[in-house]
Amino acid sequence: MKHILVTGGCGFIGSNFVRMALGQLPSSRIVNLDKLTYAGNPENLRDIEDDPRYRLVKGDICDRSLMESLFDEEKIDTVVHFAAESHVDRSITGPDEFIRTNIFGTFTLLDVARSAWGCMPSSPCPQRFLHVSTDEVYGSLGESGAFSETTPYDPRSPYSASKASSDHLASAYFHTYGLPVIITNCSNNYGPYQFPEKLIPLIINNALKGMELPVYGDGGNVRDWLFVEDHCRAILAVLARGRVGETYNIGGSSEKRNIEVVETICDILDEAVGRLPSGMPRRSLIRFVKDRAGHDRRYAIDASKIKAEMGWAPVVTFEQGIRCTVDWYIMNRTWSDAVMDGSYRKYYEEMYGGR
Ligand code: NAD
Ligand code: DAU
Repeated sequence: MKHILVTGGCGFIGSNFVRMALGQLPSSRIVNLDKLTYAGNPENLRDIEDDPRYRLVKGDICDRSLMESLFDEEKIDTVVHFAAESHVDRSITGPDEFIRTNIFGTFTLLDVARSAWGCMPSSPCPQRFLHVSTDEVYGSLGESGAFSETTPYDPRSPYSASKASSDHLASAYFHTYGLPVIITNCSNNYGPYQFPEKLIPLIINNALKGMELPVYGDGGNVRDWLFVEDHCRAILAVLARGRVGETYNIGGSSEKRNIEVVETICDILDEAVGRLPSGMPRRSLIRFVKDRAGHDRRYAIDASKIKAEMGWAPVVTFEQGIRCTVDWYIMNRTWSDAVMDGSYRKYYEEMYGGR
């Protein structure tokens, strides 16, 4: 039986992962350690919370004594580390928490795993520490090319710089102490349970409510979109078959300009719930607003390594995934309304009010 510590399992990707892992790894126990920040929501896992193989612990990855007691008590042999501050815009207005959680929190977790597992360099260690990271560590691409595992790091936002730092720490713990670390760097995810500060759920929710749709700059920035369940399948494959000390890039091979994504959502919603009460199509709500500071122009992932080594490839196309995602937000308006509480409205006003 595997004893898996998932950090940040009440967030977007973490909750999708916990649900899939409980289903696909029947002889595993999952301990979900989550601070339950604004982005962490136990509702995301309400359907599985009574599973005897699952336990939620509210806590902070920076809390060393809590981490030590969890490793000891739960005999943790596998870590899947999602917990992070994850929103680029928030890292621009308030970087402190990104430095604390993403860098100091990852360091704490690595160091506790090292003490608990007693691994040594050059002798194989059966445990696994999977550090979940992002393609943003590689910086911004021009018109062509894609990030591979050997692309030099060039982070440009406090968020991506903090993730890059955490990747370097994870790699250092492999090389220096023999901690069995694997790093994954993934492109933009979308799907159910994503907090509505991120582009796709923000546009869906605003468009459903007939609110303006803020598109930064000229809308020509490109992201490589991956349906969240494909990311979770990739993580399970890496856990089972990934080589320690390696990095694996994960991406959707599905590059889209932001404006294309926004227009697609408008068209799907017009079809699904009808045009606006005025009779206008939802595209009429699009507004080009002041750009994000230091906005990376284009991301694209070369995922040939994980495909070659593990046979992993995305199974959900963008066209299928975006329809499924829009349907989910239509069907789960109470979920969105609950997370878009007073603090979200304050955030929205500060972020978009003067744009
Ligand atoms: P999210 O913001 O939805 O969830 C983050 C979770 O971490 C929340 O449940 C939050 O409560 C928890 N958390 C935050 N600080 C914590 C702390 N100090 N201790 C314990 N828990 C804490 O994030 P997400 O989009 O699900 O991303 C998860 C991970 O995947 C992050 O590491 C992110 O960098 C990475 N990633 C995200 C994407 C994406 O497109 N969303 C793509 C590639 C990589
Ligand atoms: O690439 C992986 C990264 O993807 C993850 O590491 C991050 O955690 C995740 O948040 C995401 O970062 P982005 O900055 O790419 O995602 P976001 O949804 O914030 O923005 C996507 C694009 O849409 C980006 O070019 C900015 C733009 N945008 C975003 C918002 C919120 C808008 O035009 N309008 C908006 O209101």
